[in-house]
Amino acid sequence: MRLLFAGNSMLILFIICLSLGTNALPAPNKLHKITKGLCDKEDELAKISCMSVREHEQIWGGMLKYQSAYPLNSVLIKQAVEHIAREELRKALNLPPPHPWGHYNSTEPSDAELASAPTIEAYFDLKEPRLLSHSLDNTYFFEHNFPPAIEFLDRRVPVIRTIFNCRFSKVRPLDSAGVTDKKTIDRMVDEFSNIGTVSNRVKERLFDFQCVFNNL
Ligand SMILES: *[C@@H]1O[C@H](CO)[C@@H](O)[C@H](O)[C@H]1NC(C)=O
Repeated sequence: MRLLFAGNSMLILFIICLSLGTNALPAPNKLHKITKGLCDKEDELAKISCMSVREHEQIWGGMLKYQSAYPLNSVLIKQAVEHIAREELRKALNLPPPHPWGHYNSTEPSDAELASAPTIEAYFDLKEPRLLSHSLDNTYFFEHNFPPAIEFLDRRVPVIRTIFNCRFSKVRPLDSAGVTDKKTIDRMVDEFSNIGTVSNRVKERLFDFQCVFNNL
């Protein structure tokens, strides 16, 4: 494997640049806040080992080999973590799973639209974070590319769901049977905007260069 890579230093450089760009470490003074956001699962996250050659290829059902799968997976895994967060956000609100993808709509709902939402679910549908990556306008992936990546993460890194579940249930009032007020939804949607701390950490570990190169 090492030899196979010897003639491919440009590709490796490309992969390293691609991954470095989004893996900046948090500033030390932010560490405390981020640790809290990880629901004391810091140690478990630190133990995640990097993806093996086989794992990279399995996500593509054996259709792509490692060097093609690796750069794609570095994007897919991040978007899959976001998808898990969306599922957990809806679960925490006792709402059905996310809708099938539609076209990306960046127009914020108007106050009138929000005020006239007839149910909590309708209100959430309006407030639910709209991501280009989870829409038909995703330029990298089809919706059907996600399930293998999500299954992989659930099997291999179940702590991702644990953390999102913990974070969203902390924001939700514990005493209510179901969430009925719009303010709680607003707070939970705000919480969603902080999920980058989790997806960055997971990506750092799964794509850790030292570990990746040692495994080749
Ligand atoms: C896009 O979202 C806005 C705000 O919720 C909505 O008013 C509008 O109808 C949506 N557009 C489409 C094409 O769905």
